[in-house]
Amino acid sequence: MSQLTILRYPDQRLHTVAKSVPAVDARLRTLAADMLETMYEAAGIGLAATQVDVHERLIVIDVSESRDQPLVLINPELVWASSETRIGDEGCLSVPGIYDGVERATAIRVQALDLDGKRQLHVAEGTLAVCIQHEMDHLMGKVFVEYLSPLKRNRIKTKMIKQKKDEEREASY
Ligand code: NI
Repeated sequence: MSQLTILRYPDQRLHTVAKSVPAVDARLRTLAADMLETMYEAAGIGLAATQVDVHERLIVIDVSESRDQPLVLINPELVWASSETRIGDEGCLSVPGIYDGVERATAIRVQALDLDGKRQLHVAEGTLAVCIQHEMDHLMGKVFVEYLSPLKRNRIKTKMIKQKKDEEREASY
């Protein structure tokens, strides 16, 4: 297994629309394992392939406290979303240190292939429902800050660019 590099907002590659995973094979299983390792290492609860610059419909999630219940969704499709919504604070491994409120459906049903290539129906609510919606947005090239006001988004963009410059300066010593 190996760790992957997570793209950071405002990297334009985060706005790529992902294509369907062509086959659930050894390559895909290795990618899913690497993405899980990357997500656990970064202490995140979800990661979309888009964030590691692979533009295929694959997401990994673990919302458990114990960090031992990985969920891999391949070619996920939203089949139902509740009309009830809730605004909750979200963060993103591609936008480190930023948390803000986003309105999401409180419950969803999603169909996806698992690592054996079998179709599974996932009924989710609470944090898992929010996380799946957040990660599925990534596959459509959407980062959560795009739900915020242009003013907030620009402020975040500026902060991220400065953060990256500071890191590069440190690295060059
Ligand atoms: Ni994210």
